[in-house]
Amino acid sequence: MKKQEEVQVEKKYKSAAYTHVVKIALILIISGVLAVMARDFFLPETMGEFGHYRGDDIIDQKNVELRSHTNESCYECHRPIRLIHKAGVHETVSCEFCHGPYADHITDGKYVAKLPVKRDMEIKALCLRCHNKIIRARPEESIKVVAMPQHLEQKKVNVDHNCNQCHMVHDPMLWVKASYEMMGVEMKGEKKR
Ligand code: HEC
Ligand code: HEC
Ligand code: HEC
Ligand code: HEC
Repeated sequence: MKKQEEVQVEKKYKSAAYTHVVKIALILIISGVLAVMARDFFLPETMGEFGHYRGDDIIDQKNVELRSHTNESCYECHRPIRLIHKAGVHETVSCEFCHGPYADHITDGKYVAKLPVKRDMEIKALCLRCHNKIIRARPEESIKVVAMPQHLEQKKVNVDHNCNQCHMVHDPMLWVKASYEMMGVEMKGEKKR
């Protein structure tokens, strides 16, 4: 008798074999619906207008203030440098690489503040950012590289010599070329303009 009662109690509390699956399925469906609603709520209005990005971003990007300009824009006011820079091997090098962005200097076409000018040993560091032999990824044909202090030892000078004592920064081969000419020595290499 006792045994039968026990069995009945057990039955009362017994759930069907699939209830846990139903619960999980319900939770998944509810969170799915919530996620879709949240997505609509959080996504910017113009999302997906033209592609998988915010459509308004095109307008935002268009309105970003231009900080950099071309060398031509510098030449408008720096005429003497134009003559030197354009005639030399640094013609293709951006003024801004060495002096900083236009926007720090000029606003609405007007001079507002000085641009930094590197002096003394800072110049050496500046030149070597492009011309250092250590930069192995740089093909020699595109930019000539030198190793320091070997470059100066080759020229038989004091190791403390700075680049701009022999190379004019805005036309690096100008003085070198002139001294070769003065000594009546033919320069090796093609591009020594
Ligand atoms: C609207 C005219 C104008 C334009 C464009 C202009 N500059 Fe200048 N810049 C000046 C003036 C004026 C000075 C002189 C400031 C002084 O003597 O104090 C100057 C001075 C400089 C100096 C020297 C700062 C110093 O400490 O001696 C540098 C370097 C310079 N400009 C670089 C540039 C570069 C690079 C550009 C292009 C990105 C440029 N400038 C475009 C007007 C201009
Ligand atoms: C390779 C780096 C480099 C480039 C490119 C360059 N400059 Fe310079 N510039 C210098 C350095 C370094 C000095 C300081 C020269 C010195 O002290 O001998 C200088 C000096 C100047 C000065 C001030 C002169 C002085 O001594 O106060 C002006 C103005 C100037 N540059 C404008 C320009 C303009 C405009 C361009 C682009 C056409 C340009 N620079 C490109 C490195 C550069
Ligand atoms: C932003 C990179 C850059 C910086 C900084 C720079 N140069 Fe140049 N340099 C160049 C490029 C590019 C050329 C031209 C290479 C070409 O046309 O084959 C060049 C050419 C030269 C040449 C001629 C090499 C040859 O025989 O063809 C010399 C010398 C030189 N630079 C010296 C200097 C000095 C000195 C400084 C520092 C005042 C300096 N460079 C800073 C990029 C740079
Ligand atoms: C004592 C003078 C002197 C100093 C200082 C000097 N150079 Fe030179 N450099 C020369 C001469 C001269 C040449 C031309 C070499 C030739 O063709 O015979 C030259 C050539 C170069 C070349 C072209 C190399 C090639 O393979 O054609 C580069 C790049 C160069 N120098 C960069 C620099 C840099 C960067 C500094 C500073 C760290 C510097 N130089 C300091 C005298 C000097």
